[in-house]
Amino acid sequence: MSMVNHLPKFIVVLVLLASGGVIASKITSRSASSATLVDVQVPLLSSKAKVGQESFEAICAQCHGKNASGSEQGPPLIHDIYNPGHHSDQTFQLAAVRGVKRHHWNFGDMPPQPQVSAKKMASIIIYVRELQQANGIVYREHRM
Ligand code: HEC
Repeated sequence: MSMVNHLPKFIVVLVLLASGGVIASKITSRSASSATLVDVQVPLLSSKAKVGQESFEAICAQCHGKNASGSEQGPPLIHDIYNPGHHSDQTFQLAAVRGVKRHHWNFGDMPPQPQVSAKKMASIIIYVRELQQANGIVYREHRM
């Protein structure tokens, strides 16, 4: 058999190897992002929440993850400890102004976010609260 007869098989093997490589790299990148800590259901957002979502994705998502589901840099905000009874809207505002000392997790401190105005923060809060509510995270009185 000549090389020419084998050529089609060669091509098939090459294509398989190449696509195998693509699949393998997809799997690797998926496991890198499996640091995402919670599975977040995204509801239909109000228009105010959508404004907040934009700022969130530009500023907060690098640490708190897409849809506030967490990342290797920061905790998910769609988590029961951030329910409005434990972390009020005021706490959120303060987080942006003062930053947050590491206390609930081991991600380190959150640096202050002075570029986020109180107004911007208010719409981010609306966004996070709508996500929380859609994921069963509602006001629970905080008892220490
Ligand atoms: C550089 C990473 C980083 C960025 C950017 C960031 N955060 Fe954080 N944030 C953290 C970490 C880490 C914590 C957890 C600290 C702890 O409790 O251990 C945290 C905690 C918080 C808390 C909890 C506050 C508290 O009192 O416990 C809120 C609310 C919050 N972040 C909101 C935001 C919002 C909104 C943005 C965008 C404006 C944002 N963060 C941007 C890293 C970040």
